[in-house]
Amino acid sequence: MGWEPIETASIDELRSLQTERLQATLVNAYENIAHYRRAFDNAGVTPGDIRGLDDLSALPFLVKDDLRNAYPFNMFAVPREQLVRVHASSGTTGKPTVVGYTVDDIRTWSTVVARSIYAAGGRPGDLLHNAYGYGLFTGGLGAHYGAEMLGCTVVPFGGGQTERQVQLITDFRPRIITVTPSYCFNLIDEMERLGLDPAASSLEIGIFGAEPWSEGMRAEIEARLGIDAVDIYGLSEVIGPGVAQECVETKDGLTIWEDHFFPEIIDPETGQVLADGEEGELVITSLTKQALPVIRYRTRDITRLLPGTARTMRRLERITGRSDDMLIIRGVNVYPSQIEAELLQIDGLSPHYQLHKGSDGNMATLTVKVERVEDATSEDAAGLAVRAEQRIKTMVGVSTTVEVVEPGEVPRSQGKAQRVVN
Ligand code: DLL
Repeated sequence: MGWEPIETASIDELRSLQTERLQATLVNAYENIAHYRRAFDNAGVTPGDIRGLDDLSALPFLVKDDLRNAYPFNMFAVPREQLVRVHASSGTTGKPTVVGYTVDDIRTWSTVVARSIYAAGGRPGDLLHNAYGYGLFTGGLGAHYGAEMLGCTVVPFGGGQTERQVQLITDFRPRIITVTPSYCFNLIDEMERLGLDPAASSLEIGIFGAEPWSEGMRAEIEARLGIDAVDIYGLSEVIGPGVAQECVETKDGLTIWEDHFFPEIIDPETGQVLADGEEGELVITSLTKQALPVIRYRTRDITRLLPGTARTMRRLERITGRSDDMLIIRGVNVYPSQIEAELLQIDGLSPHYQLHKGSDGNMATLTVKVERVEDATSEDAAGLAVRAEQRIKTMVGVSTTVEVVEPGEVPRSQGKAQRVVN
């Protein structure tokens, strides 16, 4: 059972709730946001034409540039005074995107995060160490409010100050940690540096997201930290963390909280809707958001929709990567997470890696910089590199140059790791 009855309601009940909520969302967007009125008018559709979930494909997509063009406050369905919070993307590539929440939106967001922590195995009364960054990034405050709603005791640490985090984890004895998978390795390494045994820590559950990670990383984190590691997904444009969450009892992909976020998968080239089970770009329509309803938002994230298991609602397969991060190496499409999966199969290599893009004439090349583990005495760096190159070639189908470097040489993330360097 879930935290709320709707998680295990019948499909019929779910679909009828979604249909009702979709109609209200479309009316809100069309009547109160200039962008949607224009976009629907251009497409020749009105909210009344959309009678059910199957009609959704008649509506135009929303893309990140639409949000950028509305900078800062022109995409809201309510006056700015009714927002109780804004968050924003870092804006490293162009203008940032600003998202806003009414009181009810914050309650909705807290609810889906509370549900997510519960699905991960968290319970009221648990102590939760929150290492997602606080501030304009949605990770810290999103996890924080959800954990409070569930009834956890939150330690609002945020990112950075790794040694101090380890100290507090040791002293406060949290049961749950919320953190990016890449930063979690910093914490584990720091515990070891301080002579502590990570597997003996009080932690039992880790809720990892905000960046792609692989099954290999899961295995490594679970083994080294002695916890159950589960996946949480979300994005600020849609709400923040808590759009989908992996259930600890199945660990088979992320249940998307469909009563609030309706998913579609499209072919990223043609925009055509694909059947469940097919891989493509995730598109999300919010069903309950007031201030910033998103209708057919193109997430750029590549995944697949799978039938429900632990819950009635459908699952997302672990996100392979973002279409923006896809590399094309001699005609082969590669996501960083595919390379990561292979590196982690090789004993002696650590999960700290970066991909460097280059060119040889007009051919794209890829150099993989990866650290060897501290105690890899058995094999030299050159031998490990050759093994990694062969494995990546066989399993992923691309030729790369692997450089095995010393521990500590790959820059550490404080939040989301930068996997691809130009
Ligand atoms: O990263 C929200 C979040 C915070 C999710 C904490 C989970 C935990 P943004 O900064 O807007 O929001 O970045 C969203 O991050 O479109 C994906 O590309 C990526 N992403 C988020 N979660 C996952 C995940 C937050 N579990 C973007 N697996 C998304 C893979 C993820 N990628």
